[in-house]
Amino acid sequence: MTQSGTPVLILKEGTSENKGRDAQRNNIFAAKLIAEIVKSSLGPRGMDKMLVDTLGDVTITNDGATILKEIDVQHPAAKMIVEISKTTDNEVGDGTTSAVVLAGALIESAEELIRDNVHPTIIVDGYRKAANKSLQTLDKLAIKVDPTDRKWLVKIAHTSMASKLISKESDQLADLAADAVLAVAEKVGEGYRVDMDDIKVEKKPGSGLKQTQLIKGIVLDKEVVHAGMPKRIDGAKIALLNSPLEIEKTEFDAKINISDPSQIKKFLDEENSMLKGMVDKIIQSGANVVVCQKGIDDIAQHYLAKNNVLAVRRVKESDMTKLSKATGGRIVTNLDDLSEKDLGKAQVVEERKVEEDKWVFVEGARNPKAITLLVRGATQRVTDEAERSMHDALMVVKDVIEHPSVVVGGGAPEAELSYQLRDWANSLSGREQLAVQKYADALESIPLTLAENAGMDPIDTQVELRAKHGQGKKWWGVNVLEGKTGDLETEQVFEPNAVKEQIIKSATEAASMILRIDDVIASTKMKAPPGPPGGGGMGGPGGMGGMGGMED
Ligand SMILES: Nc1ncnc2c1ncn2[C@@H]1O[C@H](COP(=O)(O)OP(=O)(O)OP(=O)(O)O)[C@@H](O)[C@H]1O
Ligand SMILES: [Mg+2]
Repeated sequence: MTQSGTPVLILKEGTSENKGRDAQRNNIFAAKLIAEIVKSSLGPRGMDKMLVDTLGDVTITNDGATILKEIDVQHPAAKMIVEISKTTDNEVGDGTTSAVVLAGALIESAEELIRDNVHPTIIVDGYRKAANKSLQTLDKLAIKVDPTDRKWLVKIAHTSMASKLISKESDQLADLAADAVLAVAEKVGEGYRVDMDDIKVEKKPGSGLKQTQLIKGIVLDKEVVHAGMPKRIDGAKIALLNSPLEIEKTEFDAKINISDPSQIKKFLDEENSMLKGMVDKIIQSGANVVVCQKGIDDIAQHYLAKNNVLAVRRVKESDMTKLSKATGGRIVTNLDDLSEKDLGKAQVVEERKVEEDKWVFVEGARNPKAITLLVRGATQRVTDEAERSMHDALMVVKDVIEHPSVVVGGGAPEAELSYQLRDWANSLSGREQLAVQKYADALESIPLTLAENAGMDPIDTQVELRAKHGQGKKWWGVNVLEGKTGDLETEQVFEPNAVKEQIIKSATEAASMILRIDDVIASTKMKAPPGPPGGGGMGGPGGMGGMGGMED
């Protein structure tokens, strides 16, 4: 409004604004709600979630990032929490549920301070200091390990599987995860580096988790194109093509007038000889296996079969790259360029039956750093979840190989950090001290949630943990399998330090970002076409407005 009382329009008509306490309260509520959703899935005694998408597809999972990816979140603050689970997943692969639970707890603690009139910027500053202090403390607490010591890697993989559906087979699967990552680890300077792209993960339902296996080579979920081709080639020389072995159709419509049947024959003969020419170029190069990213014409298939060449078509681009890396072959676009030196080498290329499908296995490749993890499970959903859990396990092994430092699990490090932070807070002055104390409270949410999910009493657990950490038992945590507190080091529950660090960093960042917001200005949504009834959407119609009006 101007002084004369005429309104001045700055924002587009229909834009809604949500200011000060109201905006804060809505954001806090939304963030807490997201944390509440995943909370019950934390730890080995956590529950799984069944998610049904708008098309009716069902996903059953325990993975925090997957749960949040599948639900269609609309509220902007809630989206920020969902994002931290994604970041954690990309960076370290595990700890996505913990990151969200911690962010929720940090926001809940801050809410109490805001109610007591502590300004959000003071809280954010206090949180930042507390996070830095926690990271330093964590570094001192952590156990430094030898990155190539398989024993540690297996233990780490074991812990990450403990909270998943595959836990009953974790003895065998943890070995596979450690071996897979060790096989592709490369020494770089002082340390090691792992490229996860070197590990191809394929899944196939139909048999038990126990049948999950590691294959030294690449598996293509494609069959040999022609029945007359050999099904096994020893001493394979592989041509990798990304152009079709077909006569390409012209882009314009052409009309050919034919007056004589012999002309048609000539026409077809010409096509025939062009395809034969293509195959001849391949044969001349010395290749006995063709892996083509595009299609292969029936006639070309016939000529290849006649020359005892094994061919596979429509292979994914990512698989082509993996094959190229593994076999040392070059992906060729123009057949005229194909020569002997472009061919990849492998000991065996063979078509094998995997359940009702036929797959092509490329084994004994020139570069041993190419392997496939074939994940098996009784049903599609079990296999899907097993694949996600194996991803977590591979990632935690990678974390430790790249950053060889581990901590104990079961909420022990969080309890210790909380204890030490509280001690340190006493040396601070003013309201910042309050924020650091609240941060310490929030850290306890991890062991307490683990305990709660295991049916233990949270108050008793808190009291016991505080007492033990006061006596210097730094690895005292929640032994969820036995339903009591205990020293988790003796239980051999270890986690990568990198995961704990990432949880602290991403949870603190997200909480701080949300707490700093005091104004939400939202444009009106474009009118969406009517969706299916009841289809997802936490915000309901109107997005963030749907969260509005929440009282304390
Ligand atoms: N045997 C065990 N006893 C006690 N706690 C355990 C045990 N095994 C794992 N944990 C704890 O469970 C927690 C991990 O649970 P979970 O795997 O469900 O969540 P996350 O790793 O945070 O997220 P996600 O795996 O969904 O990405 C960690 O704090 C870990 O220390
Ligand atoms: Mg986990």
